[in-house]
Amino acid sequence: MGSLTGKTAVISGAAGGMGQVACERFCTDGATVIGCDLDQAAGDALAQRLTEAGHRFEFLRVDVSSAADTAALAAHVEEHHGGLDVLYNNAGVVLGKPVLETTEEEWDKVHDATLKGTFLMTRALAPLMKGRQGSIINVSSTGGLVGFEFMSAYCAAKGGVLMFTKACAMDLAPDIRVNAICPGVIDTPMPRSFVSELSDEEAKAVWENFENGHLPKRVGRPEEVVAMAAMLASDEASFVTGAAIPVDGGWTAK
Ligand SMILES: NC(=O)c1ccc[n+]([C@@H]2O[C@H](COP(=O)([O-])OP(=O)(O)OC[C@H]3O[C@@H](n4cnc5c(N)ncnc54)[C@H](O)[C@@H]3O)[C@@H](O)[C@H]2O)c1
Repeated sequence: MGSLTGKTAVISGAAGGMGQVACERFCTDGATVIGCDLDQAAGDALAQRLTEAGHRFEFLRVDVSSAADTAALAAHVEEHHGGLDVLYNNAGVVLGKPVLETTEEEWDKVHDATLKGTFLMTRALAPLMKGRQGSIINVSSTGGLVGFEFMSAYCAAKGGVLMFTKACAMDLAPDIRVNAICPGVIDTPMPRSFVSELSDEEAKAVWENFENGHLPKRVGRPEEVVAMAAMLASDEASFVTGAAIPVDGGWTAK
């Protein structure tokens, strides 16, 4: 029996680098998983792969920054699953730009997907955890703990996710535990696309800087973040709430 057997989990950003790994890990640990993302094609491919492997998984296209979409997701979960045990708010959008060049549209895009989305998903889905000892896991970042150059919109959104987590842990206690994970640089399409906009030489230097910023002198793997999320989702973490846990290879220890 896996540590998530009998639990129903919603994972956002399911089609992305960490989201796909999270969906597979939570299914393997025994959960029924509803993955959601904007990317229908990648979500459908994930659903095919996981259901063919015998897992209980379904994909729904959801824009987490839309109140209508998140309400429709909650109605679907209530009708088809009868309630919810775990909400893993993993969707997010990054922007690498100096603050004075950041447009209002870019700021809103980062904040809508990252911070507003975390709020709307929580507001829509937390009521389905009533009486079930739920767990909400919010993905913040080292950028929610310390500042990074050219990442003001992202750092502000991830810092917001972190404080939203702590305040929600108080509002939703004692039924629901709410925690944040703060990953370092993890090898997914997100940091890869960030450096792909640079010249080859700059991209190499930035990637080496990413590697050297972590004490193990490498970037992280999605599995290493998802392992923490799986623990927080499980009853093993029954006394952990309101926490912001770095999974950052010691980046913020320095
Ligand atoms: N990769 C890293 O280095 C890193 C570090 C710290 C934190 N994070 C955070 O981890 C989470 C997962 O990141 P990743 O590296 O897998 O990135 P990713 O870009 O591979 O995945 C993000 C996913 O979120 C989805 N998404 C974006 N906006 C959405 C919306 N409005 N509604 C629904 N889905 C939406 C995207 O379609 C994508 O599939 C993000 O919150 C990210 O900010 C990543």
